[in-house]
Amino acid sequence: MRILLTGGAGYIGTHIAVSLSLNGHEPIIVDDLSNSCKSAVSRVEEILGKPVSFHELDIRDSTGLNAIFETEKPQAVIHLAGLKAVGESVAQPLRYYDTNINSTISLVKVMSDHGVRRLIFSSSATVYGDPEYLPLTEEACVGLGISNPYGWTKFMIEQILRDLAAAEDGWQISLLRYFNPVGAHESGLIGEDPNGIPNNLMPFVAQVAAGRRECIRVFGQDYDTVDGTGVRDYIHVMDLAEGHVSALNHLVPGVATYNLGTGTGSSVLEIIEAFGQACGRTLPYEIVDRRPGDLASTYCSPEKAAQELQWKASRTIEDACRDSWLWQSTNPDGYL
Ligand SMILES: NC(=O)c1ccc[n+]([C@@H]2O[C@H](COP(=O)([O-])OP(=O)(O)OC[C@H]3O[C@@H](n4cnc5c(N)ncnc54)[C@H](O)[C@@H]3O)[C@@H](O)[C@H]2O)c1
Repeated sequence: MRILLTGGAGYIGTHIAVSLSLNGHEPIIVDDLSNSCKSAVSRVEEILGKPVSFHELDIRDSTGLNAIFETEKPQAVIHLAGLKAVGESVAQPLRYYDTNINSTISLVKVMSDHGVRRLIFSSSATVYGDPEYLPLTEEACVGLGISNPYGWTKFMIEQILRDLAAAEDGWQISLLRYFNPVGAHESGLIGEDPNGIPNNLMPFVAQVAAGRRECIRVFGQDYDTVDGTGVRDYIHVMDLAEGHVSALNHLVPGVATYNLGTGTGSSVLEIIEAFGQACGRTLPYEIVDRRPGDLASTYCSPEKAAQELQWKASRTIEDACRDSWLWQSTNPDGYL
């Protein structure tokens, strides 16, 4: 199938583009490059050894998007485009609601006009707010305790897509709730390239390992977890990417929701230790205060995806640290 990837030049989108192509699909990347760059697409082409269709566009521009649909004739869409920095969303809520919600509305209108009703949406474990129970299943309560506008945009977009599928026949929508994507493609050619200070643990640890930052700050060591530090369900980005290929092959009428995670949590100190093994040195860290809003522990049950999508994460934290280190050490300044 010809698959349009909104936000496809970003961290997760580039890895999905590789997976799609390796599985016989044709990725078409649409991205406004607000948090990525054209050379990420060139790296995807380098991995695949062939050109990949790319359009620079803010997908809120429905006229421009319509023109792309006319020429490219996609058969399905994976919708990744959006802003994702939690702290920034607290400081700039309108920018987040405008970008994330309006880009989705623009997209589904254009899709509907072209009779394209197969859609996979990048949702997030954030929609669960304060976890009702662990491991989280897709039936767990959503929306309770979401503490930032970013999380609300994911919650609202899920609802918008449910309402759309209920009102209009023919939609096949998969809402994929990502846990914590980490790692990089095994070639080291593509990976996570955050602007400024990384918000997520793994790229921060990678930058300390590369000598770009001095010390890892661990937010709290008094949680009720294995070693007192926060526990998250880290999923290798290539496993996540392959999850999209499976979701595409198993779209069903209406809306289906899946957790994409490993089902196992790792603590901050376990990640620091594993990354130290990968880069061959002990990494410095200091314990600082907890961050407001941080959860002690969150991890999913990946059973529904295993049953219905025939997909399961197969890579380990060690694999993720090795691949992330290869990316970081061979691209110390990210994409140039
Ligand atoms: N990385 C994570 O930890 C994580 C976790 C859960 C969910 N997600 C979701 O997955 C998706 C992809 O995340 P990522 O980590 O690859 O982020 P990313 O920032 O690397 O990729 C998003 C891409 O969208 C593009 N973009 C933003 N607004 C756009 C617009 N209006 N029109 C066109 N392109 C636009 C950006 O330039 C960027 O390339 C996002 O929707 C994010 O919220 C990410």
